Amino acid sequence: MTNYTIALLAGDGIGPEIMAEAVKVFKLVEQRNDISFNLVEAEFGAGAYFKVGHPFPEATKAICDDADAILKGPIGLSHEESKKIPVDLQPERGALLPLRRRYNTFANFRPVSLPKGLAHFSPLKPEVIGEGIDLIMVRELVGGLYFGKKEVGVNEQGLRYVRETLEYDEEQIRRIMHEALQLAMRRKKVLHNIHKSNVLKSSVLWNEVLEEVAEEYPEVEIRHILVDAAATLLCLNPGQFDVMVMENMFGDILSDQGGGILGSLGLMPSACKGPEKSYYEPSHGSAPDIAGQNIANPYSMIGSVAMMLENSFGMVEESQNVWRAMQSVFAEGFSTPDLSKPGSDVKMIKTAEFGDKVVAALEAMPVPK
Ligand code: IPM
Ligand code: MG
Repeated sequence: MTNYTIALLAGDGIGPEIMAEAVKVFKLVEQRNDISFNLVEAEFGAGAYFKVGHPFPEATKAICDDADAILKGPIGLSHEESKKIPVDLQPERGALLPLRRRYNTFANFRPVSLPKGLAHFSPLKPEVIGEGIDLIMVRELVGGLYFGKKEVGVNEQGLRYVRETLEYDEEQIRRIMHEALQLAMRRKKVLHNIHKSNVLKSSVLWNEVLEEVAEEYPEVEIRHILVDAAATLLCLNPGQFDVMVMENMFGDILSDQGGGILGSLGLMPSACKGPEKSYYEPSHGSAPDIAGQNIANPYSMIGSVAMMLENSFGMVEESQNVWRAMQSVFAEGFSTPDLSKPGSDVKMIKTAEFGDKVVAALEAMPVPK
């Protein structure tokens, strides 16, 4: 029997609630398959800071180093609460970016996929949604403005200034392009390249390297779109997109817009792939306003588990079963308050019930051979 060790970093806000539902799925998957999971919980985020003085404690680093994969919940506090933590130890800067850097998770995959049973929840009109929304954003995750040199000071005129640099070398671009092109080969063989080469030199190099790498994938059709135009087209006609590739900052913004066209960031799981280790996380924040009420939908966390099963453990069929199980719960008309419009006729359930229903649906599916 194969045994995998998985680090569970529940995080802040709604993190522990939705993590509990992901754990139910792990338990059932190991029961159904010839596999066992060693689930190891560790502190991470603002909670870890208040408990042990650091948002990414040494003990957590050791647990993550030993794990085969990491499942990470959302982190962070409300704007007001954040001020109680020194700037460099706030969980985004003090924990999340160091996690990405530690495992060099350069490729971030963010599916923007609207479950059929939730079409009414999207703010887009049915005629815009058409056959559905099912695209995936590939975001470079360890370069660009996020990780460039930073300088803050007072200039010769006595004015406060800041300088942040956007840097990429060709190798960083090449490796993300390979990921995106390989994904396009497994899907519809169309890749939308998102750039801003009419202004940014970084995009000029980005596009040059893409053209070189694309020669190895002659079957993939490349379509170039400026990032601002892409933002508009995501609203007007999302069905034209399948795989989209972009640098770090563009990916941060456009992937939230992806959540917007679905109706909620609660529908956004993700995978962050490094050369040796990958971690998985919802793309949304910790939603402190609804924390502790058992009303957050665990879709993004369970979806992250599905992505882990496929990408870290090669369990492609079981991963699809998990997706289907979640979709079936929506298709039966159930939803949680955070994923329901006021006045709609959904059958309202709580976080834990949603998780239980996903588990029941998965249990009813044939076990992959
Ligand atoms: C995301 C988040 C992070 C980012 C924050 C929490 C630092 O918004 O994963 O998209 O900007 O990358
Ligand atoms: Mg973001």
